[in-house]
Amino acid sequence: MTAKSVNKVAIIGAGFVGATTAYTLMLSGLIPEIVLIDINKDKSEGEVMDLNHGMPFIRPEKVYAGTYNDCKEADIVIITAGANQKQGETRLDLVNRNAKIFKDIIGNVTQFNNHCILLVVANPVDILTYLAYKLSGFPKQKVIGSGTVLDSARFRYAISEHVGIDTRNIHGYIIGEHGDSEVPTWSVTNISGVPLDEYFKANHPDSGKELPKDDIFNQVKNAAYEIIQKKGATYYGVALAVRRIVEAIVRNESSILSVSSYLDGQYGLRDLCLSVPTIVNSDGIKRIVDIPINNEELALLQNSGKALKNIIDQLDI
Ligand code: LAC
Repeated sequence: MTAKSVNKVAIIGAGFVGATTAYTLMLSGLIPEIVLIDINKDKSEGEVMDLNHGMPFIRPEKVYAGTYNDCKEADIVIITAGANQKQGETRLDLVNRNAKIFKDIIGNVTQFNNHCILLVVANPVDILTYLAYKLSGFPKQKVIGSGTVLDSARFRYAISEHVGIDTRNIHGYIIGEHGDSEVPTWSVTNISGVPLDEYFKANHPDSGKELPKDDIFNQVKNAAYEIIQKKGATYYGVALAVRRIVEAIVRNESSILSVSSYLDGQYGLRDLCLSVPTIVNSDGIKRIVDIPINNEELALLQNSGKALKNIIDQLDI
């Protein structure tokens, strides 16, 4: 698949997530020019100095601190700026603080660029992706949220730890909200085509146990809470998830990733953003994939949609 060339990525927000994303993109060698933009100029300049000092050790790229004006030629604008979850806070608790910040950010970006792909990472990511779509006026294909790409990775990692198989051979998704109402798609999760339960029974006959699905899912759903409690913030995992999404765009991969995007009827969901398996290529969202989840999972997904829709309806924007 030929790719349109992506030369420049702008990252809004030089906090833990923005700076670590710059680092993962720099290491990826995928992007010739990365600009880091933050209202705190010292912070973006400091991060960029630190990143540039590693340049002799990698394929050199241009990484610099800039202003919104530098979004002009960006092919992808990644938005990480906003307040972070504090200990004990849910992602949805952030909504009012971040929706206001976000309105300004989208206005500032679109003033200089109306052809880029917007990749929203700040939380609550599904609500902010919806706002990005509504406020930017961009086509829905061009507004992507990092969604549950990270949660799906956590899911695959947790299963991999139980079955002792490479995470890359474990196929399964977390769908719905990136947050408390997210849904594990156990019914379609498989190891190289073998349904997970079957695989576990056949390969762990002596354990006498079923796969501890509730534990695995709780581990995934509560991962960010646990990390925040232990070290204050999460950033490596999400920055690698963003790197993966950017790679799918830059290389026109048509990869299926559980990104968040605007739904207009798929899975019975309408006028909201959340994550379901989605084909991502250089246009952004190519198509949503209809995977055969069971009725229970579908009902949970629709509940997750309802929870998000309730928040959207209360937004004061
Ligand atoms: C997490 C943040 C990115 O789940 O929401 O780690």
